[in-house]
Amino acid sequence: MDKKNVRTEQGQTVAAQDSVFNRVRMGYAVIESREAKAWQLLLGKALGMQADVLPDGAVAARMDDHARRLIVVPGPSEDLQALGLELADEHALAIVLRRLDQRGIAVRESTAAAAQQRGVRHYWHFTGPKGLAIELYYQPSLVNTPPRMATSGFVTGDKGFGHVAMSTRRPEQMKQFWREIFDLRHTDDVHYTISGVPLLFEFMRLNERHHSIAFVYTPKIRLDPIRTRIQHLEVQAATLDDLSAAWERCRELGLAVAMSVGQHANDKAISFYVQTPSGFEIEFGWNPVVVDEASWQPAVWDRISTWGHHFEGQSLGGRLGQLGRSVASLLRKEYVPAGF
Ligand SMILES: [Fe+2]
Repeated sequence: MDKKNVRTEQGQTVAAQDSVFNRVRMGYAVIESREAKAWQLLLGKALGMQADVLPDGAVAARMDDHARRLIVVPGPSEDLQALGLELADEHALAIVLRRLDQRGIAVRESTAAAAQQRGVRHYWHFTGPKGLAIELYYQPSLVNTPPRMATSGFVTGDKGFGHVAMSTRRPEQMKQFWREIFDLRHTDDVHYTISGVPLLFEFMRLNERHHSIAFVYTPKIRLDPIRTRIQHLEVQAATLDDLSAAWERCRELGLAVAMSVGQHANDKAISFYVQTPSGFEIEFGWNPVVVDEASWQPAVWDRISTWGHHFEGQSLGGRLGQLGRSVASLLRKEYVPAGF
């Protein structure tokens, strides 16, 4: 499909003002790491996904009928490299491509090898805020056989695989970008002070999932001590038994738990956070509320959690607290696409 063309192959006219809300979801994540074995242990043995080490040294994890959901490719950055956003159909993809084109954001097409590595037929990609590669597709490769997992399942489907949380020093530009390109909606907020540092958390949705992206930032002087592009990535377990079993396995394997089991105030999810080999965390969650567009009222919460979620490692708050005594992040540039 030609991104300049305003008609899809089916002949539908594409208007940039058409909404893609509810037609976009978290599809896959590509992580760059040299710690393939440790990633396989975490995703497979601990969290229960089917996690295979491939001949090229990458780790590919399945959570459902998609060929790939989390892909760990060999490389030095120890960071999230790309987010694959799944569009509901070719028409939704065309809307997003048209908006990017109007904004002058350069979009490139995937190679066959890169698409295969991600478990999709083809994708279109560009550099998004924080230098994160954003990859767009609408045709995932599906597998007929169920994944071999040590857990009953994950909640994915039209809601996507879960969510990511990112710290940012440019929240206004960040939000404008996601709103204008992907019709991101505001769900709710948490205002909470950790280690003497006031923090603003904004929870944003792409579909009925309570949030697909959360932003965290400091209100006045913009600090960001998080080295990685995301603070955490969340996957949603199908049952509470899956969550408790994964928690036990993380403990037995001696993995570094960042936050113990607890319940979030705003989305009511029960979850725990485990450190990944690349520095950011994975939240293993269960049962967040689903947003009803007709009745949803955004609230401002004064706490992150109603119970549990005790910090066990170097927490987000701890690191932000440290940064209150440092100006290092003020000297770092945070990328946003031109025009935002
Ligand atoms: Fe989360």
